[in-house]
Amino acid sequence: MLWKTVLLLALADQVLALENGLLRTPPMGWLAWERFRCNIDCDADPKNCISEQLFMEMADRLAEDGWRDLGYTYLNIDDCWIGGRDANGYLVPDPKRFPNGIAFLADYAHSLGLQLGIYEDLGNFTCMGYPGTTLDKVLQDAQTFAKWKVDMLKLDGCFSTPEEQAKGAGRSGLPGPRRMGWRRAPPWKGLQLWVQGEAPLWSLSFLTCGGKRSALRLQAASRASSVLRGGCCAPPGYPMMAAALNATGRPIAFSCSWPAYEGGLPPKVNYSLLADICNLWRNYDDIQDSWSSVLSILDWFADNQDVLQPVAGPGHWNDPDMLLIGNFGLSFEQARAQMALWTVLAAPLFMSTDLRTISAQSVDILQNPLMIKINQDPLGIQGRRILKDKSSIEVFLRPLARDAYAVVFFSRRADMPYRFRSSLAQLGFSGSGVYEAQDVYTGGIISGLQAEANFTVIINPSGVVMWYLYPTGEPEGPQL
Ligand code: GLA
Repeated sequence: MLWKTVLLLALADQVLALENGLLRTPPMGWLAWERFRCNIDCDADPKNCISEQLFMEMADRLAEDGWRDLGYTYLNIDDCWIGGRDANGYLVPDPKRFPNGIAFLADYAHSLGLQLGIYEDLGNFTCMGYPGTTLDKVLQDAQTFAKWKVDMLKLDGCFSTPEEQAKGAGRSGLPGPRRMGWRRAPPWKGLQLWVQGEAPLWSLSFLTCGGKRSALRLQAASRASSVLRGGCCAPPGYPMMAAALNATGRPIAFSCSWPAYEGGLPPKVNYSLLADICNLWRNYDDIQDSWSSVLSILDWFADNQDVLQPVAGPGHWNDPDMLLIGNFGLSFEQARAQMALWTVLAAPLFMSTDLRTISAQSVDILQNPLMIKINQDPLGIQGRRILKDKSSIEVFLRPLARDAYAVVFFSRRADMPYRFRSSLAQLGFSGSGVYEAQDVYTGGIISGLQAEANFTVIINPSGVVMWYLYPTGEPEGPQL
């Protein structure tokens, strides 16, 4: 095992591409975390706890209620599924909540035309304190996932500490008794302070990479770490896992959370490296069930679009996190807005809601065929915010195949439906081309759009109007 790990580390040091050919368009599916979190109390809450039953019921809904046929094919497990490691170090699911094992769930998903995603964390523990994948376990865990016929791996970045940290772990791999201390932590070549109860509570790490760059970061359980100072090169575990997944021979889409733990921006995050080793990556904070959370994520993506927009494309996507639609925190307008904005950003569409009880109104938003066609556009170009009007209207534009565009008019106003007067010229179009637009939500057609002609759209507070805009005459789109 050791020589294989060394070989993988060496491989990972070379330029390495994740040659799995997957996710040429953003992934779509269902992911447990935002809605179901780490609810493991199956005695008190059997219908909603993280268990085989929950995933099987969601699989049934995906297959039977039209989701799968529209492209929502991933059924993704998140944290809190792990029971421990067996005597040979292999991961095992919680035996009570996943009595038939993960391979059984994967078979079940496949039998319904779905794909199964799983979650692990590069480090001693997952964000919720379950056994993580330490560097010496990367190869073994990749092989386990492949053996189980898993189709996607989300590799989180909490407690990215080295193998030594696991020494205090109990036999099952779960954290041991409360302790606190300074620890040497190769390969990070730093010191870490740990306080542990049932799960690691927090760590303060001094990191050095290649003897040059260093960082100080604070990391708390279930939260992204904050880099307090400095920067670092990519943790070796992510390229290693990409190599290990490749080596299994099974195409497994690879979702990397590492950028979110490093502030999501260069120089700490090297997006060219990331695009070579990951199919998608979380750049920023966890989404919560609130409009303010959606806005903070949107703002960060739009403010940093010069960095983020060029790095997305077929096979490698920025991930602003799950869709909240169907849950509790968004109004109808806000739910429509999240769907439109995520689509124009070429974001993965991972629902995280209870598909057994979802309202017809939310289904309509999530199952809008034109919306999905735009999200899945084969060019895979991420859209940009092209206008921030003083009226608190913002316009986002995404170039699509066949000289078409998606346009999202987004209102940050809190008063009343706003009559936004604009023209294609204001959105960057020139020339004499004639365009037609289809309103993605109402289906209405707006014809005869030309660069200099004014039009008016009426946008509800915290809502959107979304157009699918296509040439009817000579195509002359904006220079983006
Ligand atoms: C982190 C991730 C979340 C989720 C939780 C699980 O916070 O960013 O998406 O996976 O861990 O503990």
